[in-house]
Amino acid sequence: MRPLPSETAKIRTDAGFARFVPWVRSRKFLENFREISMDSIFDEWRHTMKCNLAVISGDGIGPEIVAEAKKVLDAVGTVYGHEFSYTEVLMGGCSIDVHGVPLTDEAIETAKAADAVLMGSIGGNTSTSPWYKLPPDKRPEAGLLKLRKSLNLFANLRPAVLYEELKGACPLKEEIMKDGFDMMIMRELTGGLYFGERKTVEENGVLTAYDSLTYNEKEIRRIARRAFDIAMKRKKKVTSVDKANVLDSSRLWRKVVEEVAKDYPEVALEHMLVDSCAMQLVKNPCQFDVILTENMFGDILSDEASMVTGSLGMLSSASLNETKFGLYEPSGGSAPDIAGKGIANPIATILSAAMMLRYTFDLDKEADAVEAAVKKVLEKGYRTIDIMSEGKQQVGTKEMGDLIAAEIKN
Ligand SMILES: NC(=O)c1ccc[n+]([C@@H]2O[C@H](COP(=O)([O-])OP(=O)(O)OC[C@H]3O[C@@H](n4cnc5c(N)ncnc54)[C@H](O)[C@@H]3O)[C@@H](O)[C@H]2O)c1
Repeated sequence: MRPLPSETAKIRTDAGFARFVPWVRSRKFLENFREISMDSIFDEWRHTMKCNLAVISGDGIGPEIVAEAKKVLDAVGTVYGHEFSYTEVLMGGCSIDVHGVPLTDEAIETAKAADAVLMGSIGGNTSTSPWYKLPPDKRPEAGLLKLRKSLNLFANLRPAVLYEELKGACPLKEEIMKDGFDMMIMRELTGGLYFGERKTVEENGVLTAYDSLTYNEKEIRRIARRAFDIAMKRKKKVTSVDKANVLDSSRLWRKVVEEVAKDYPEVALEHMLVDSCAMQLVKNPCQFDVILTENMFGDILSDEASMVTGSLGMLSSASLNETKFGLYEPSGGSAPDIAGKGIANPIATILSAAMMLRYTFDLDKEADAVEAAVKKVLEKGYRTIDIMSEGKQQVGTKEMGDLIAAEIKN
């Protein structure tokens, strides 16, 4: 794989040089030449980046929402002088139609060669689509599981944010949501029950199914570190969720998380049992900052957390490996019921692209600009159909992308 963006973040690209030369020739530069240090000259030059993205548009609304995220990234490129290049990769149903499998080895190699993967969503209507007549390992979702495993994407981040402008969509009472909430669910993604050995056997004439839940201390330590690192950039609180009163894997989880916490004295750590956490998410969601948990608990809790924000079309997500590489995708699925109608909400995908700017490319200012642009468009009253309310102006997928792209400012 090529050097990672973190290592090449300061690379001088052609685009950077092209931007640098006119600036040096500018009147402002010449007038202030004495006051301008060499550091500031190189700062301007080196902060332009070339970002190579593998793009999985996928199925259903996938291509529609990814097009809008690319539009916004291109606006970021224009305003901040970065260059985004996109290589399309087939995965899911569209790959089954072309190659007979949901993900080819070539597709994996293309993804590995990129700096990051931007994804829409995959899959079709699970009751009617012929893709779901295939054996489980040939269905669209098998492609995603294989990709996550091949790229070693062990850390899944799902923010659950209640926007002031969308409070009306939150199913919680006013006194519970207070001034809104902003939490990050950090879910282990490549271990636990979903990846353990499984079998169904007949024992004494009775069918019996086995699924095994395994975690080793290394798997727990690496996700815990990620969670504490992210908490350091936020409100410095980690709630580690387990079922330590019953499960051995949870007791090991708790032990290792406590060890890791010693390296982060500024971060407050609390433990919570998963059943209690499920309850607290609807009783008092404002208490959470980073929720750290294992694969299956995270699967369930992140869906719960996303539903209390009221809109699936707003929820971004990132899956990261040990390096800065990540796969960025909206939390929702391919929404076959609205595919092709031009009405899907592209905001979750656009916010996923913002996460990519922040976590893969360390472009915090640019990520802030995308998030601010989304907020601005919501403040101005524009809504896609899924977040529409009285008195607001309804727009389609493309218009929403245009509006957000136009709000990208330096
Ligand atoms: N990571 C993924 O690609 C992913 C994740 C979840 C589900 N899926 C797949 O998606 C397919 C459909 O699944 P589902 O119907 O259970 O869930 P879904 O998330 O696709 O849709 C649930 C509901 O939310 C709406 N919705 C979702 N995203 C939206 C958006 N951006 N804008 C407006 N409305 C939106 C849909 O119209 C639908 O009414 C299935 O094949 C499933 O396996 C894929």
